[in-house]
Amino acid sequence: MARLLLRGFDIRKAWLDGSAQAQLIEELRPILRSAPLFRPMTPSGKEMSVRMTSAGKLGWVTDKSGYRYQPQHPKGADWPAIPEPILKIWRELASADRDPDCCLINYYGESAKMGLHQDKDEADFSWPVLSISLGDDALFRIGNQTRGGKTESIWLSSGDVVIMGGPARLTYHGIDRIRFGSSKLLPRGGRINLTLRVAS
Ligand code: SIN
Ligand code: MN
Repeated sequence: MARLLLRGFDIRKAWLDGSAQAQLIEELRPILRSAPLFRPMTPSGKEMSVRMTSAGKLGWVTDKSGYRYQPQHPKGADWPAIPEPILKIWRELASADRDPDCCLINYYGESAKMGLHQDKDEADFSWPVLSISLGDDALFRIGNQTRGGKTESIWLSSGDVVIMGGPARLTYHGIDRIRFGSSKLLPRGGRINLTLRVAS
């Protein structure tokens, strides 16, 4: 379990072992059934290549009306609760005082990626964002606190956890690509990234 600090991002390599990763996938199955993945659209009308859904009191959505958190899935149902084993990781690495409102679930298929962005739709940036990687390896790019400038990249693998907090809370970050089929965790390949957020 190596620990790396890269531009303030606290990266815990292999924080979850294989059986903990498999347990999280089992916990996610009923969530994906009741809150199916959807393909979000940016406010400017571009379809994102990742598919997403959420668990928790609030879920993150984007459409023509903008980026926001809301209490229901776009199809109308409340989001399912965040599973206990996921909350346990947050309590251990992020905060024992307050649980996250949102577990954003991003699924990356073979050619999915995510451009450099800041996570800034939350009300209070003093809370970190905690990210859990499951499935295929992903090339994670870290930029600066403003757009532009030099960037650095690191491969994230299944079981890695990243804490984006403190001065790095508003640092630009994104996923350039995944190495499709590099992990056997998801039977049909791809990558799931969970981000836990205090949103309200
Ligand atoms: C995100 O920034 O929302 C996702 C990051 C990742 O997929 O690792
Ligand atoms: Mn992000």
